[in-house]
Amino acid sequence: MHRWLNMPHVRQWWDKAGASLDEVERKYAPRVAGTIPVSCFIIEIDCRPIGYIQAYWLRDFPENSACALAEPSERSASLDVFVGEPELLNSGIGSAVVRMFLNDVVFGRMKAERCFVAPSQNNHAAVAAYHKVGFQNSTTIQSADGTEAEILMWCQNSAQID
Ligand SMILES: CC(C)(COP(=O)(O)OP(=O)(O)OC[C@H]1O[C@@H](n2cnc3c(N)ncnc32)[C@H](O)[C@@H]1OP(=O)(O)O)[C@@H](O)C(=O)NCCC(=O)NCCS
Repeated sequence: MHRWLNMPHVRQWWDKAGASLDEVERKYAPRVAGTIPVSCFIIEIDCRPIGYIQAYWLRDFPENSACALAEPSERSASLDVFVGEPELLNSGIGSAVVRMFLNDVVFGRMKAERCFVAPSQNNHAAVAAYHKVGFQNSTTIQSADGTEAEILMWCQNSAQID
């Protein structure tokens, strides 16, 4: 996680400041331990760790920018994802992982009604990947820190996503 979170392509859209090893441990260890309500997973291909994905209920994070406009229901969830290894970008992995994650975790295990994501409007790869999975644009919102506009996108648990 420490290496990935300091990769330029992840820093650009995740946490611009990057993260020290201590910061990574302080932030993610409680998620792994389950003391913070975020379900987190390492993405693996053939046993090789290549990225990270997490899901949570929006009601647990009212400061999330999606809450400003979505007026989330009790069963509205959100996810965040990155492919950490730069040579694997743009080869269909991100969208395939999100599709699987929606089916297995967000709409499967969590039984969410809707899933919201809010990529920066300039994050064309993320917007394209979410569209491929079936997310629809809802509206454009200002990010929590007010710097970059984000596109609020959502996806309904109407059926299994093929
Ligand atoms: C978002 C992310 C997970 C997508 O993963 P991925 O494996 O690259 O996604 P996919 O290959 O499935 O889809 C990406 C699509 O974006 C397209 N794309 C990439 N850069 C683009 C650009 N500048 N303009 C338009 N489309 C672009 C790709 O061509 C691809 O579409 P295609 O399959 O129709 O050709 C990955 O880019 C990533 O980890 N980014 C850094 C972290 C991040 O932004 N996370 C999301 C925060 S909301």
